[in-house]
Amino acid sequence: MSIVFQETYKTITLSTANTLYQMQIDHLGHLQHLYYGRRADEADMSYQYFQADRAFSPYPHQGFNKRCPSPDIVPQEYTGFNTGDYRVGCLELSGGTGMNAADFTYVRHEILPGKYQVEGMPSAYDEGGQAQTLVVYLADQVTGLQLELYYGVFEKEDIITRAARLVNGTGQPVRLEKAASVCLDIPFGDWDLIHFHGRHAMERQAERLPLPQTVTTVQSKRGVSSHHHNPFVILCDREATEEQGDCYGLMLVYSGNHRTDVEVNQMGSTRVVMGIGDELFSWNLEPGGAFAAPEVILAFSGQGLGHLSRLYHHMIRHNVCRGEYKTARRPILINNWEATYFDFTADKVYDIARMAAELGVEMLVLDDGWFGQRYDDNRALGDWYVNEKKLPGGLAPLIERINGLGMKFGIWIEPEMVSEDSDLYRAHPDWALSVPGRLPALCRNQLILDLSRPEVVDYLYERISGLLRDNHIEYIKWDMNRNMTDVYSHALPAEKQGEVSHRYVLGLYRLLDRLTTEFPHVLFEGCSGGGGRFDAGILAYSPQIWCSDDTDAIERLVIQHGTSFGYPVSAMGAHVSASPNHQTGRNTPLGTRAVVAMSGTFGYELDINKLSDEEKEEIRGQVQFFKENYRLIQDGDYYRLSDPSRNEWYTAWEFAAADGSEALLNVVLTHSRANSPNIHLRLKGLDPDARYRIAGEDYYGAHLPWDLMFGGSPSIREERTYSGSSLMYAGFTLPMLFGDYPSGQIHFVRV
Ligand code: GLA
Repeated sequence: MSIVFQETYKTITLSTANTLYQMQIDHLGHLQHLYYGRRADEADMSYQYFQADRAFSPYPHQGFNKRCPSPDIVPQEYTGFNTGDYRVGCLELSGGTGMNAADFTYVRHEILPGKYQVEGMPSAYDEGGQAQTLVVYLADQVTGLQLELYYGVFEKEDIITRAARLVNGTGQPVRLEKAASVCLDIPFGDWDLIHFHGRHAMERQAERLPLPQTVTTVQSKRGVSSHHHNPFVILCDREATEEQGDCYGLMLVYSGNHRTDVEVNQMGSTRVVMGIGDELFSWNLEPGGAFAAPEVILAFSGQGLGHLSRLYHHMIRHNVCRGEYKTARRPILINNWEATYFDFTADKVYDIARMAAELGVEMLVLDDGWFGQRYDDNRALGDWYVNEKKLPGGLAPLIERINGLGMKFGIWIEPEMVSEDSDLYRAHPDWALSVPGRLPALCRNQLILDLSRPEVVDYLYERISGLLRDNHIEYIKWDMNRNMTDVYSHALPAEKQGEVSHRYVLGLYRLLDRLTTEFPHVLFEGCSGGGGRFDAGILAYSPQIWCSDDTDAIERLVIQHGTSFGYPVSAMGAHVSASPNHQTGRNTPLGTRAVVAMSGTFGYELDINKLSDEEKEEIRGQVQFFKENYRLIQDGDYYRLSDPSRNEWYTAWEFAAADGSEALLNVVLTHSRANSPNIHLRLKGLDPDARYRIAGEDYYGAHLPWDLMFGGSPSIREERTYSGSSLMYAGFTLPMLFGDYPSGQIHFVRV
């Protein structure tokens, strides 16, 4: 039983393989949070808290004699509003008489088999039927406003999910000005915050900060989860490393505006409130109406950051991503964007595909520029019909030729956008977000379609489903190349304009849901100018997201490292592109570019015809290697072995099979130095009692000749075996690498 109610103590305890989560209904009916952390055997953990008067911390009127408990002090599962908790709250209300406050008390609870789902939004699911759900029903006794708190307990996966729903039982209209998803109070301890900030072409850089005694906010107001602040945070103890220490993760399953406040209060206790961003947000609840806040996936690791990440990787791969491609091997693709940009013809695209097919690549993706008058990025978004000047006869003849090579065909679309210079905009100018009387701000010279309008969603469904029905398309790259401004829907009255951003996200989810259900064989890849909408909400529809428009392998090391804290490599779109790189001008060895792209979904994005025969053969080898090691890389346990924020001169990471049968060690030298010490790494995830052989040890770029290093050839290392314990506890030494950005891949296999 992973959910237990103890009548004696009025506690509800959730347990997973290694964690315990406990709450308690106090004598006034408030739902207090008692504990979340390492699994402990205790039915009532309230003994940790002293209830005492704290001056200037108000208490409910019934507490006259004891002058406590104060909502400003006690840890809570979800806050009320305007009743004495001065910390960051979950809720803000406005509306008729009495709506100036909310104080929720326990009504009843239910323990249900299976995992709850959130209305209209993606959430984690459980196919095995082992998860359980707790719903706690609370109400404000004065107004009748109801609060439902949902807990999904994934015992084996060691994960707890949470969501909240507000139901208007007041008999009068209520307006939510803020409705967060969770409050997680961590009453004791000193914590660091790790968050993932960035910009276009440099997403999800991990930053670790000791929490100050105030409020720290991580948020996006851009209408999307954004390049700039990912809706995922970690709190870890000050000493936590990859391998040890207590860490909490909170990941919002949502793709729009978000806000996470982390507050350390007067008593030094920490509170995290996470949910939809509240700026430009309001939601009108008619009597009887309900509002569902998006889900948060919580994880706790008592074994450091690496383990925390692996909990999320597993959860996302198995319980968030859906559809056949969550497990099926995904095709290695070649995308024409950086090869041709807008300047292509059917023959040019075919030539790229032909050469790629010869080398083992399995899918051609035709990127931007195939539709309407799309000769540059100033026009034609919305006109989703084929530009026959570029592709005579439409898509069908090209697809046929590509399929004739034994390749799948995929295509780029950007459905949520419209160019002013497009037939769609000329027909429906009111379908774009814009404030009456103002010229909307531009970004890439495009506007955003108002997906809060059902007719816009229906129109897009018709266009895209038509495209998929009429053509043999097996992959869609779904792009979104600007952030929201002028958030105003011409279809909604003034008092509902605060609902537009959230209604937009709900419209997007409806559209994606319809399309992915109707076309289960199509692989969707999310994209927003690279990784501008890289979140668990999008991953529910597309198991991979283009990680960044920065395809430079060395920059990608940082981006993919940051992304790996919350998301698996199977979610990270990554391609080998040309050298010098188009974003940075940097030259890197072809092998290094592949080592980095292989730690993602793997594909190519360059004109292979321009490469030498030698390079083409190298690509043939890379493709072969990735296919052979696909399961180890995509399903294996991922270990970070270095930390770019510590200015190390190399980046290293490893994939280890869960059963310890094999591991792939990856290293890239990011800074060459004279007379450098050798890189020495301790492997992870091996079986200490087993012996391993080196099945392959390959270096790309330059390294010292083998006889200088080991007095012989690499076969000396390959001929012997190594114990798992020595590789993990003593370590493994690499040859001295030099030159610009060499890399290595060493494959250990249990004998
Ligand atoms: C975005 C994407 C790129 C490419 C271009 C096309 O920037 O991230 O990969 O598809 O759009 O315009």
